[in-house]
Amino acid sequence: MNILILYSTVDGHTQHICEHIKHFLESHAVESQANMTITMMALDAFYETRGEQDKVASQLGEFDMLIFGASIRYGKHRPQVSEFIKQHKDTLARLKTGFFSVNLVARKPEKNTPETNSYIKKLLEQTDWQPDVVAVFAGKLDYGIYRYVDKQMIKFIMWMTKGPTHSDKPIVFTDYARVDAFCEQMLALTTKNS
Ligand SMILES: Cc1cc2nc3c(=O)[nH]c(=O)nc-3n(C[C@H](O)[C@H](O)[C@H](O)COP(=O)(O)O)c2cc1C
Repeated sequence: MNILILYSTVDGHTQHICEHIKHFLESHAVESQANMTITMMALDAFYETRGEQDKVASQLGEFDMLIFGASIRYGKHRPQVSEFIKQHKDTLARLKTGFFSVNLVARKPEKNTPETNSYIKKLLEQTDWQPDVVAVFAGKLDYGIYRYVDKQMIKFIMWMTKGPTHSDKPIVFTDYARVDAFCEQMLALTTKNS
């Protein structure tokens, strides 16, 4: 099983979740003596140079599985996310695929599923993509690293949605048990033939 883990991140939290996923899958491979190769890369790297992009694009079909995670900023995934999906739709249809979105709205239980989280619903509608497994994870709030304007905006959004408007330390809302459940769903796909 040849797996590509791709991530779109701004502050690094989605990358951190992907590292957790990679570690989970690798541990499973060791335990079950499964033959698994995992490549992890930033979507940015994919788009850095045309040459690289062509290289990975031509290699994309050689993977058996794609796990793709992307975070939300000001109501949207980054434009490269839908660009990538649209551009490689035919190839994606031949792979086992899992997609997850990371955002702060998902810290609310009533907004943390693919059916109730408007960001992921919108992306999948716009791209007309149906990954085999879809998930939404709550992200990380870190007032210490935001630029002034971003900090004011996030404080305002938090105030509106009854979240924390002050914190000296980062607050991680991600429920890693849900991330593990996503990994289990992806592993279940590896035993399916189609
Ligand atoms: C400038 C900025 C804008 C954000 N906008 C939203 C938003 O509109 N909705 C939301 O649910 N979360 C929003 N977030 C929260 C991020 O999605 C969350 O912090 C996530 O963990 C970021 O992941 P990343 O580090 O991989 O980029 C925003 C965060 C920042 C810093």
